[in-house]
Amino acid sequence: MADPAADLRTEYLGLSLRNPVVASSCGITGSLTGVCRCAEAGAGAIVLQSLFEEQIVAELGGAAAGAGAAFPEEARAYLQSLAHGWGPQPYLKLIENAKRAVDVPVIASVNCTSGDAWTDYASQIESAGADALELNIALMPVGADETADEIEETMASIVRAVRRQTRLPITVKLGPYFTALPHVVSRIVDAGADGLVLFNRFYQFDIDPVALTAVPGNRYSTSNELQLPLRWVSILSPRVSCDLSLSTGVHTGTDAAKAMVAGARVVQIASALYTRKIEALSAIVSELDRWLCENGYAGVGDARGRFATSGHYRSKDLERLQYIKALTREADEG
Ligand SMILES: Cc1cc2nc3c(=O)[nH]c(=O)nc-3n(C[C@H](O)[C@H](O)[C@H](O)COP(=O)(O)O)c2cc1C
Repeated sequence: MADPAADLRTEYLGLSLRNPVVASSCGITGSLTGVCRCAEAGAGAIVLQSLFEEQIVAELGGAAAGAGAAFPEEARAYLQSLAHGWGPQPYLKLIENAKRAVDVPVIASVNCTSGDAWTDYASQIESAGADALELNIALMPVGADETADEIEETMASIVRAVRRQTRLPITVKLGPYFTALPHVVSRIVDAGADGLVLFNRFYQFDIDPVALTAVPGNRYSTSNELQLPLRWVSILSPRVSCDLSLSTGVHTGTDAAKAMVAGARVVQIASALYTRKIEALSAIVSELDRWLCENGYAGVGDARGRFATSGHYRSKDLERLQYIKALTREADEG
């Protein structure tokens, strides 16, 4: 890749990145080959595919109570069969090998729903050489008896439990569905998180109405999905002390530029690695470089947060006014 004209270097979670385009946790980053290909294509850092808390607990065996103990036999058997090629031990090996093979930060990832037995494993992730740990906290409340406060407390307690086990920087990947996201974020940061990834894109399913079965929905995002994380990164970036990573809907350099001016330190890309192949990484880095130069920015540090601090999102009343204007304009045009 040609040397960038703008200064693309950025800091994320206390790590120095050559550029802010990070390969997001996905199937490609679950193998050494994929990790190397992402690094060669110019990724600023790489987030490994997630290991599930249940896989860790299943391998720890009966001694580990908590989530694993409640598994139906079918789930336990499935997880144990997965563990042959992909489990806690191979994962530590992947971290070690990735660290040896690439010269960009390698971030491990665990998909979890509790701060129970699995959290000891965070110290093994640290010993294996990971540069940081991303927690994909994937709570899916469906019961009417679970309150928002209980769910938020579970999230904070997971971060506290992991914080006790490791000195690694911790970043938390969240879904977008909260009533009071700024409050949730402040609880997570108070619990010890150094960064947030906004947002996780949950597995989408559709319904076959004849067969009455669930069928896969849109597996990959498009740039149209960028607007939700952009909005929240803009709102949160002037207000939070931790680093923000924007995830979902980044497919072009202009998408990445929008995330930068909204206040993100990095963007993470997954779908583009599949729909445009891994070369999408180098294309997005080059496009971002060109965008910064064409728009008079010396580097990403210069562009970061320009929109978010422009005042547009600082006032609740102003946002309400924009909303009213948008709806009334639509009514006039309709
Ligand atoms: C095939 C595939 C596998 C994924 N696996 C993981 C995973 O293991 N852990 C995780 O946190 N996110 C996973 N994701 C979610 C992505 O990291 C990302 O947050 C999401 O796809 C939104 O970003 P995008 O719009 O760039 O795809 C996966 C996404 C895809 C498409």
